[in-house]
Amino acid sequence: MAQDTIPAAKPIIGDEERAAVDRVMRSGMVAQGPEVAAFEKEFADELVGGRTCVAASSGTAGLHLGLLAAGIGRGDEVLVPSFTFAATANSVALSGATPVFVDIESDYFCMDPEATEAAITPRTKGAMPVHLYGHPANMDRFRALTEKHGIQLFEDAAQAHGASWNGTPVGAFGTFGMFSLYPTKNMMSGEGGMVSCATPEIARMVRLLRNQGMERRYENEVVGFNSRMTDIHAAIGRVQLGKLPAWTARRQEIAAIFDSRLKGVTVPPVAPEATHVYHQYTIRVHGDRDAFAKALLDEHGVGSGVYYPIPNHELPSFKLALDLPVTKVAAQEVLSLPVHPSLTEANIDRIVTGVNAMAKAGS
Ligand SMILES: Cc1ncc(COP(=O)(O)O)c(C=O)c1O
Repeated sequence: MAQDTIPAAKPIIGDEERAAVDRVMRSGMVAQGPEVAAFEKEFADELVGGRTCVAASSGTAGLHLGLLAAGIGRGDEVLVPSFTFAATANSVALSGATPVFVDIESDYFCMDPEATEAAITPRTKGAMPVHLYGHPANMDRFRALTEKHGIQLFEDAAQAHGASWNGTPVGAFGTFGMFSLYPTKNMMSGEGGMVSCATPEIARMVRLLRNQGMERRYENEVVGFNSRMTDIHAAIGRVQLGKLPAWTARRQEIAAIFDSRLKGVTVPPVAPEATHVYHQYTIRVHGDRDAFAKALLDEHGVGSGVYYPIPNHELPSFKLALDLPVTKVAAQEVLSLPVHPSLTEANIDRIVTGVNAMAKAGS
């Protein structure tokens, strides 16, 4: 029977987002302005306990500006996981510093605090764990180890809007935390990033760097970029921010159904201290993962994604001969199933049936 493919990810764009864009277009003022300022304030209050937030044109720009504002540059080392999207390490490299790749914990796919501490050298200026798939990294351990060694803590929260560790929201721990607003994220603005800043000084520097180094027009204080968000994007983001709590709850509900009904694959464990927001619901497939994914699509019409098939240190852009065994296995085994809030009950049934059938056939 022909059936529609269930996509791995699906941005939800409603009439409210369209109306918000129209409102800004009709105002005639579309570049960074009052919508961006309102979005920053609302995002801060909703997601990071009121810390000052500064919007940027993308998550990658947000990471880059955050690192520069924190004083990271040539000669410095910043510890990052290799098992993440390349933007994490790219932003470090673009700041002039060296990304030093660290292995992950096998349970939660996030940077391993022990391996991080072992990789610290006199040149290490910071550590940037990634709250991968919406599961927070172990922030108690990261806070303790960065304080102990006098280095800065940065958070790549690109995938983790609303996640928390022991009740503290991600993005509220480090010198800065960055949230991506790319369309497939838990909420989006078209393109965009939000930088949550620990101090007014960091926030001011991110703002300066975002806008050619200017706070007052034509009085450029530092060399900067044009990494501004437009009011059109901010208007979309404001609407999505209002929808995020219900979407997150739905992602968590779907994940709970998968946890209880999937058999023969390893479902994603959640640390007792963690609130997971399931940007991805990522299983481990023991065996031929890629054949599993292809059969899931061909036979059951279920899309899936591999995030990420090549560890960053093996990419042509970095090409480093490192031994990161947990990362290596994860890259071979992970498979992310659709968990987006627009899934219907029939979709969920089909995903469960398909995965269980594939797992059974492979066992
Ligand atoms: C872990 C991680 N870091 C950084 C980014 C960069 O965000 P953006 O795509 O908004 O530049 C992403 C988004 O894809 C991501 O998943």
